[in-house]
Amino acid sequence: MKKTLIVANWKMNLTTHQASTLVHRYNQVITGHQNIEVVIAPSTLSLQPLSIELDRRKFRLAAQDAYPKDEGPYTGEVSFAMLRDLVHYCIVGHSARRVYFGESLELIRDKVGAAVRNGICPIICIGETKHERDSGETKQVIHDQITTALKNITSDELETIVIAYEPVWAISTFQGEVAKPDDMQKAIDYIRFQIKELYGAHAAEVVRVIYGGSVNEQDVRAYLELPGCDGVLVGAASLNYAKFGAIVDSAYRLQHEQL
Ligand code: PGA
Repeated sequence: MKKTLIVANWKMNLTTHQASTLVHRYNQVITGHQNIEVVIAPSTLSLQPLSIELDRRKFRLAAQDAYPKDEGPYTGEVSFAMLRDLVHYCIVGHSARRVYFGESLELIRDKVGAAVRNGICPIICIGETKHERDSGETKQVIHDQITTALKNITSDELETIVIAYEPVWAISTFQGEVAKPDDMQKAIDYIRFQIKELYGAHAAEVVRVIYGGSVNEQDVRAYLELPGCDGVLVGAASLNYAKFGAIVDSAYRLQHEQL
C-alpha cells in the first residue's frame, strides 16, 4: 500500500517564531502513522530552525521553491544544492509561481532536473486556469505541463516524483471554486495516462499523484477516496492546526478502513 502524502503549503505566511509555534501545535494534534507522510513547506527562512525542532518520525520538510543553478551570480536566489541537506521535498511550479512570477515551462523543467540531481523529491504542481478550463483546454495544458516538466527525467527517477494536480481556479488564492471530486478523477486518470505514454504502465502506477485546491477537513476524504489519488496538498487550511490535524486524521481513518 502506498503511503498517503499530505503536504502543508504555508505559502508566504508566518514569521520564524510563528512557524515554530505552529509546528509545536501540529505535534500536539498529529500522531505519527506508518502509512501517512506529513510534509511541511514553510518559508525558506524557517527551514533551518524547523529542521532542528521537527520530530522527524512524524514530519518531513519541503521548500516552496528553489533556483535551478547550483551556484553563481543569481542575487536573491537559493539553490536546490543549498537545500539538499535540509529538505526532503521541494514544491516546483506552483501556480502562484507560474501566475505571479511568470515561470515558464522550461524554467520548471530545469527546476525539476535540479531537484532530482540534488537528491530532493520535486512536488510538481500542474493544472489549468479557469480560462483554459472554460475553453476546453484542460487536457492539452496537463499534457504540455507534464511532458515538459519530465523531459530530463528517467523512469527510475520517476519514483521520487510527486505530481500535484491543482486546477488554478480551485486554489483559495485564485477563484477558490470547489472542485467536484468526480471531475478531479478524470484529470488524475489523464495524468496517469500521460505517464503511461511516456514511461509505460509500471511507471504510471508508481508515480505519486496528489490533489490540491481549497482542501479542508470536510472534503478531504472525498478526494482521498478517488482511485489513484495518493494524497493532498493543503494551503489555507494548513495554517490552522486543528483543521490540519483533522485532515491527517481523516486520511488515517480512511487508510485503516481500506486495510
Ligand atoms: P489552498 O492552496 O488549499 O489554499 O487552495 C493550495 C495550494 O497551496 O496550492
